Formats: sequence, structure tokens, C-alpha cells
Amino acid sequence: MTLDVAGLTVRYGANDPPALSGVSFSLRAGEKIALTGNNGAGKSTLLLTLVGILTPESGKIILKGQEIDRKSTGALRENIGLVLQNPDDQLFMPAVYDDIAFGLRSHGKPEAETARVVHEVMEKLGIGGLGERLSGRLSGGEKRLAALAGVLVMRPDILLLDEPAAFLDPPSRGRLTGILAELPQAMILATHDRDLAETLCDRELRLERGHLAP
Ligand SMILES: Nc1ncnc2c1ncn2[C@@H]1O[C@H](COP(=O)(O)OP(=O)(O)OP(=O)(O)O)[C@@H](O)[C@H]1O
Ligand SMILES: [Mg+2]
Repeated sequence: MTLDVAGLTVRYGANDPPALSGVSFSLRAGEKIALTGNNGAGKSTLLLTLVGILTPESGKIILKGQEIDRKSTGALRENIGLVLQNPDDQLFMPAVYDDIAFGLRSHGKPEAETARVVHEVMEKLGIGGLGERLSGRLSGGEKRLAALAGVLVMRPDILLLDEPAAFLDPPSRGRLTGILAELPQAMILATHDRDLAETLCDRELRLERGHLAP
């Protein structure tokens, strides 16, 4: 089991109702799970909690058998890559290439190796020509692919993707589906896209107002 979640409850404000209530499930190595549910059901909240951006009020996250506490949330970031629902929240370097290369550089990867991996991922995603462009001036779909590239270059053990195909045109969506299908990593894919969920995923977890549907 690569990730176990038990009784996860998350609240944004002390007086808010829980955005997630008692969510429990396990993600096995290599498994692809579709995370579905209506707007506001808690999909993004779950993904943000699994990488340690949000802190649960209660419940456990167990990564490769190790229970995560407040001091060990770094392990979540090291092992889990999240592509945010809104790429404007993810891209932060002016040039696209620098944005995608950021994670590798900050892990001290030599520039030549960084360039090789970044170019390979960009080509695969069909954004090979965008490296010199300003991230803020890309189209919505181009931003989404650039944000995804920045996570894929890191080859995390677990990939969390929040609406990865939203706003993509059919060729980009097709490329993305092919790439995700080939990746050996475990992933959780939050999506309203039934077709994508059925093509890619082994099973579905459905959230209803913060609870996992039976
Ligand atoms: N920053 C926030 N502060 C307060 N409440 C929030 C915040 N973000 C989300 N919520 C609330 O938490 C609940 C779950 O939201 P979440 O974004 O996880 O839903 P979602 O399933 O990802 O929806 P969508 O399909 O629209 O992306 C909703 O009731 C939402 O209003
Ligand atoms: Mg969401």
C-alpha cells in the first residue's frame, strides 16, 4: 500500500462545516483512482490535504507505512506531486522553461540533466516550443500543460491531478490521456470528465458533501 488515509476530517475555518468528513481509503502502488463528485464535494480539499498544504483536523495519512505528523509533512511533498486545479496558482516563474525546471534545479540536479528531462517532458506534452514564453501569457490549456510538466519532471511516486484535462483541446487531451496511461505511478485524478475517468482509472472514489459515497 503506498498511501492510506483513515478518518480524514478537514475544516477551513473553526466555524465552517467540515469540507471533508471521515474520509478513508487506500491507494496501492501503480493504482489509478478517479476522484469524482459535484462542485464543492471536497475533491480539491482532499488533494491539498494529501500533499500537506491543508492540515486535517483529525484522521491519519500513512505514506508507505509511515504515519505523517506535523513534523513529517515534508515527506508528502517529496513523494507526492500535485497539479493544482488552477494553473495560475502553480506557475510562478516568469519563463515557462524556468518554471518547469524549478523543482529539479532546487534539488541540485545538474543543468545538463535538468535540460534533458525538461525538454523530454515538454516535447511529450506538445509544448516544446513554449520554453522562452512568459508563463503568465500562455493560454489556459498551455498553462495547464506547463504546470503538469513541472510536476512530471520530478517523477513523484504518487501523482495527484486536479482536473488535468479541463480546457484542453482534443489533441492535447489525447496526448495527456496517453501520457497518464503510460505512467507507472499511482495517481488520483479529480475530474468531472467521465470519459477520462473511465479510460484511465481502475476505480472511482466519489465524494458527496465531504463524505465518501458507499
Ligand atoms: N479556501 C477555502 N476557504 C473556505 N472554504 C473553502 C475553501 N476552499 C474550499 N472551500 C469549501 O470547501 C468545500 C469543498 O471545496 P473543494 O474545493 O474541495 O470542492 P471540489 O470538489 O474540488 O469542487 P470543484 O468541482 O468545484 O472543484 C466547499 O464547500 C468549498 O466552498
Ligand atoms: Mg476542485
